[in-house]
Amino acid sequence: MAYLKPQRPEKVTAPSLKASKERGEKLVCITAYDFPTAKVVDEAGIDIILVGDSIGNVVMGYGNTVPVTVDEIVMHTRAVRRGTQRALLIADMPYGSYHTGEDDAVRVALRLIKEGAAEAVKLEGGKKRVNLVRRLVNEEIPVLGHIGLTPQAVNALGGYRVQGKTKDAAMQIIEDAIALEEAGAFAIVLEVIPHEIAKIITETIKIPTIGIGAGHYCDIQVIVFHDLLGFSFGKLPRFVRQYANLRETITDAITRFAEDVRSGDYPNLEESYGLPEETAAELDLIKIEAENKK
Ligand code: KIV
Repeated sequence: MAYLKPQRPEKVTAPSLKASKERGEKLVCITAYDFPTAKVVDEAGIDIILVGDSIGNVVMGYGNTVPVTVDEIVMHTRAVRRGTQRALLIADMPYGSYHTGEDDAVRVALRLIKEGAAEAVKLEGGKKRVNLVRRLVNEEIPVLGHIGLTPQAVNALGGYRVQGKTKDAAMQIIEDAIALEEAGAFAIVLEVIPHEIAKIITETIKIPTIGIGAGHYCDIQVIVFHDLLGFSFGKLPRFVRQYANLRETITDAITRFAEDVRSGDYPNLEESYGLPEETAAELDLIKIEAENKK
C-alpha cells in the first residue's frame, strides 16, 4: 500500500513540535483509547496520540465528556502506552480534575504521567488557566492548551457551537492563545472556530496549533478515531471527513458469523479439535464409562 509516510522517522516529543512548525511540516494527531487502536495508529506513522476525554462520547457512552474520571483516563492511557512507540502520547485532564486548586491539578497530571505513562497532559481553557499551566510546566509537565469550543464547559455554554464568531469573541480566543504560549504550553488545540481566526493565531504564536474544526491553516490536525472510521453514533460535525464505515463492516461480519452458527455451518471440522487415532478407537469405551458415571 502506498501512503505518505511521516516526514521524520524519529520519536515525536513535546519540544520537537516547535521545530516541526518552524520547518513547515504538517503533523497528524488521532485519539486512541486502547492497545490495539494505539498500535495501529502508531504503526501508521501518526505523530501524536491523544487519550482524549472524548472517550466519554465514543467509548463510555456518557453522551458528553463531563462524567469522565481520572481513573478512566489513567487506565486507558496505560493501555495506549503499550501500543505506542514513535508518537507523542498526550492524556486529557478530565473535567473537575484541575478545577479545585493547583496542587490537586499537579497530583492528577503526575498520575497521568507516572501511572499512565503519558508524555504530556491537555487541559481546557485560556487566560484563566495561565497560572496553572505555568505551575505544571514548572513541575516539568508538558502542557497542551485547548481553546475555542471547550466541550467540558458544555453545561456553561449551553451546547456545542462555533466559537469566536464576533469581533470580541475572536479577540478573546486570540488573547487566550497568546497567554497560553506565554505560560509555557507546548501547543494549543483550537476547536471549532472560524478558519480566519485559526490563521491569525497560527501565524501569531510560535508554538503549533492543533486544529479540530478550525480549518486548514492549523499546523496539526486532530480527529477522533471513531469519527474518522465511521464507528461512532449520532450526527457527525461538518468538519469530520469519514474514511471508512467500520460500523457497517463490523455489523456485516458479526451478522455473517451469527448466520453460520445458526445454520450449523460454524464450526466445521477444521475449526474443531479431534481425538488422537488410538483414543478414537477406544471411543466406545469412553462412551460406556461416561454412561456409567451418570
Ligand atoms: O477529547 C478529545 O478527543 C479532544 C480532541 C478532540 C481535541 O479533546
